[in-house]
Amino acid sequence: MYVKEIVNDVFYVGVDDKKTRLFEATWPIPNGISYNAYLIRDEMNALIEGGVKVDYSREFFRKLERVVQLSDLDYIVINHMEPDHTGTLPQLYRIAKNAKIIVSQKGKELLADFYNIIDSDRVIVVSDGDEISLGKRTLRFISTPFLHWPETMMTYDSSDKILFSGDVFGSFGALNGRLFDNNWVLDEYLAELKRYYTNIVGMFTGPTQNALKKLKGLDINLIAPSHGPVIKEYKDKVISLYDELSRYESKKKVTIIYGTMYGYTEELVSVLALRLYEEGIPVSILNASEVHPSYILADAWDSKIIVLAAPTYDGKYFLPAYTAMYYIYAKRLRKKKFAVMGSSGWSGKGYLRVIDLAKELGWELIEPIVEYRGAIDEEEIKRVDELVDNIVRILKEGG
Ligand code: FEO
Repeated sequence: MYVKEIVNDVFYVGVDDKKTRLFEATWPIPNGISYNAYLIRDEMNALIEGGVKVDYSREFFRKLERVVQLSDLDYIVINHMEPDHTGTLPQLYRIAKNAKIIVSQKGKELLADFYNIIDSDRVIVVSDGDEISLGKRTLRFISTPFLHWPETMMTYDSSDKILFSGDVFGSFGALNGRLFDNNWVLDEYLAELKRYYTNIVGMFTGPTQNALKKLKGLDINLIAPSHGPVIKEYKDKVISLYDELSRYESKKKVTIIYGTMYGYTEELVSVLALRLYEEGIPVSILNASEVHPSYILADAWDSKIIVLAAPTYDGKYFLPAYTAMYYIYAKRLRKKKFAVMGSSGWSGKGYLRVIDLAKELGWELIEPIVEYRGAIDEEEIKRVDELVDNIVRILKEGG
């Protein structure tokens, strides 16, 4: 059992999860995920994060006990109560009898709700800006509600300037020994970091902006999140990406989310894509029957324009395409313009139903709606040309 010291007296004691297929039983993690925890050895020993997912308790305890005797553990800092970080907490709390839990006020309530831990002698509630001395080091707590639950906070070690950021700045993907960000291929890393943000934390863009403002004044050498690698080399890139994503900053790009049963809609999507490429506009083409909404959401997040193309199904919107749009709707993706292409076939204009979801998000419809019945002919292609003209004009105007 190997335990890595990330800086002097700060040890990584987290674990890799390569068994779970869907994080939160929702989001695909084909490359796994890590649950990070860090042990600081000082006059007072502190574990940052409550622990890891309960399924990995054996590995976690073995790692932890290599660094500290559990009777010598003084503090368990809970940045975030979600059980992927606190599943091992009840066991640790029972064994490490001298350890006190440090948590926010809301975290204290959740501690009682989730684990029936209500022993106030061993629970210290901290507020924004509070500090605790470990001896050589001092920990400062920074309140960051809704990143990703209401109780969430970050912990800052002013000695080595480490920000223990919880879910924020986390990414999907097991570490597989790649403990630091520069061990990862940058593009792949940022793609999984973006997918993690948009899928997990993305609904809370306002709280993200608030947190980023708070962090501005902080001198940070290392970011130690609760998922993914420790960030040192790409710190500025990651913070900028968070800023862009949480402001819904978007690129001159079109994301086409489509469904097709017999290929007619797919044919029209190809025509649209061809025309857009001819205009020099980057396009993502995502078949909702094949691409999980997790990836569709991440792709759509920073596109200026979303095209929703699908047939009617039983009088309604084609189910896989509607599901993809429902994920986007549920995560409250804002500031988009959108277009609709839909086939009525024999059963009405069910494809129009997706407009309600888009309008609830405040998206702006680009005319014309391209409607067809079954096979594509010159009339539909003319409408696609009109749509492309309008998309080009909007992108040129910077809209
Ligand atoms: Fe990684 Fe919101 O828990």
